Amino acid sequence: MELKDKIALVTGASRGIGREVAIELGKEGCEVLVVGRDVKLLESTKQKILKVGGKCEVFKTDLRDLDELIRLTETVKTKHSSLSILCNVAGIYHSDTKTYFDIPYEEFSNEAIVDSLEVGIMASMLLSRAFIPLMKKGGRIVNTSGTFGKGEKSGTFEKGCMADLVTKKAIEVFTKQLAYELEDKNITVNAVCPWFVWTENVQKFFPETKDEAIPVNKVAKVYISLIKSNKNGEVVEVRN
Ligand SMILES: NC(=O)c1ccc[n+]([C@@H]2O[C@H](COP(=O)([O-])OP(=O)(O)OC[C@H]3O[C@@H](n4cnc5c(N)ncnc54)[C@H](OP(=O)(O)O)[C@@H]3O)[C@@H](O)[C@H]2O)c1
Repeated sequence: MELKDKIALVTGASRGIGREVAIELGKEGCEVLVVGRDVKLLESTKQKILKVGGKCEVFKTDLRDLDELIRLTETVKTKHSSLSILCNVAGIYHSDTKTYFDIPYEEFSNEAIVDSLEVGIMASMLLSRAFIPLMKKGGRIVNTSGTFGKGEKSGTFEKGCMADLVTKKAIEVFTKQLAYELEDKNITVNAVCPWFVWTENVQKFFPETKDEAIPVNKVAKVYISLIKSNKNGEVVEVRN
């Protein structure tokens, strides 16, 4: 799929994986609508996108806030008659000071559970639903999952990360089912499922993963290759 002049919306574009995906889409000549809460960081993503030849518009949105999410979708619909690409990258697996890993389930805060689900699965579902009518044939939705330890293949997962685990497994079910339901519209839905990625927050919270963490750009390129391909309903695991 030729990406030049296509309109793409990327959540989580203020930092980490989402920022890199937004910049890669800019390199391809897309007009990228970047979404997050931190306007200063979103503006810096915008400058990077302009520098590589893309276009960009910043949309400050707290995806936990339904009114803000609806305002985002209505504004995009007013300004644009089509949207070709939606990358749901925003996710919450840490607060400012600690991760939501290695926590016995009964010790999880309500906030950690609600934030993870609201940003990681609810917002992805609501944005996808709102934007399907703007997607012409050839539309692309790419969601974001994650891997959870070595026991995955046997059906058991790392302990202590219930909020993120449930969110990511839900996004995988959503991805596969939506891919199936949109088959006739020729809109594809896939998910990227990375192991640790060397983002700022992984460097801060999981420095011990330095040798095994995946470079951010390598993961961003998986989003781009899924967008360019005709694959549908796939959850693509990425490891180093
Ligand atoms: N890094 C990894 O090792 C790894 C591995 C597997 C999966 N993942 C998944 O990949 C995605 C990105 O990871 P990352 O490491 O790049 O994350 P990150 O550095 O923590 O960045 C999270 C992004 O999500 C946005 N976000 C968080 N809460 C939001 C809210 N309430 N409203 C709007 N935007 C919000 C943040 O923007 P603002 O702060 O500007 O709101 C930021 O751009 C997440 O879904 C994560 O679960 C990451």
